[in-house]
Amino acid sequence: MTPNDTSGGPTSGRVRPRRLRRTPVIRSMVRETAVHANQLVMPHFLLHHDRGEEAISSMPGISRLGHEDFLRQVADDMKLGIRAVLLFGLPAEEHKDESGSGATLPEDPVLRAVSALRREYDDELVIFTDVCLCAYTNHGHCGFLENGTVANDPTLARLAEVAVAHARAGAHFVAPSDMMDGRVAAIRDALDSDGLSDVGILSYAVKYASAYYGPFREAANSAPGQGDRKGYQMDPGNVREALKEAALDEAEGADILMVKPALAYLDVIRAVRHNTWLPLAAYNVSGEYSLVKAAAERGWLDEAKVVHENLQSIRRAGADLIISYHAREALQRDWL
Ligand code: PBG
Ligand code: ZN
Repeated sequence: MTPNDTSGGPTSGRVRPRRLRRTPVIRSMVRETAVHANQLVMPHFLLHHDRGEEAISSMPGISRLGHEDFLRQVADDMKLGIRAVLLFGLPAEEHKDESGSGATLPEDPVLRAVSALRREYDDELVIFTDVCLCAYTNHGHCGFLENGTVANDPTLARLAEVAVAHARAGAHFVAPSDMMDGRVAAIRDALDSDGLSDVGILSYAVKYASAYYGPFREAANSAPGQGDRKGYQMDPGNVREALKEAALDEAEGADILMVKPALAYLDVIRAVRHNTWLPLAAYNVSGEYSLVKAAAERGWLDEAKVVHENLQSIRRAGADLIISYHAREALQRDWL
């Protein structure tokens, strides 16, 4: 008879996993995975106006905010325990051009937001800034367009300038999401030669060409005018390539790596986790958020439980940090 054999009747099995599931207190005592507020990063979409709140139709509960409204939102979020933000800028339409020069203008919403947050909270809040050109270019690609393709090397210096501008304004970490080869090294070198060696890099190291970014592109008005991002973002079928990207970014000087999206790529999170000593972040992206919201609105599933389960699964797979649009509501409504 095996130790677990209950064929002799319900009481003959010696090993009974259900003993550890009997009461809520026992279950919480032996639970292997927890999601804490200090592991969550709240993303923000910043308008170039002082005031304003624009609902994003495909992301219920998330709005683009003007400067003052954004600052008020962060103050409220900090009371809930949120200690980190990821900032995306939405420049004025007239500031979009071929090379994304709006990203370093003094009136850029990210630069304004970073300075204000740093003045208000200094190191009490960790400021991550997304470094990319797609919201700032008139063609919507993440790098410079040359003869219809995104040119890698000419883009690097521009990304480094944007990263340095964010870091000078006070960002704790810059987060390049463009997927150009060599951009972590280019940004690291630029930060270091500017005396910004304390500023870290959260690299979107493993970023797939995913249809789950759909609602974000509505939110940030950053869809490419022509073509797609498959020439620079990763093919969803690949996992060895994820390890290659992670290793390269680590070697180039990244401080934190990221896998994105999260839920459809839990195996990739696990694989990267086992192949690096760096902290690992996962981005629970817009489409993953919208799916849950849409089903919950229809009463098709219990949002509180599904959000907890999703965030827990991302942690269980091996992510340390989770960037999620659910962060605020999960804490506000005590879902974790
Ligand atoms: C910009 C960027 C994107 C996201 C983060 N940074 C969109 C894209 O690459 O098209 C997606 C985030 C989300 O879907 O929540 N490069
Ligand atoms: Zn981009």
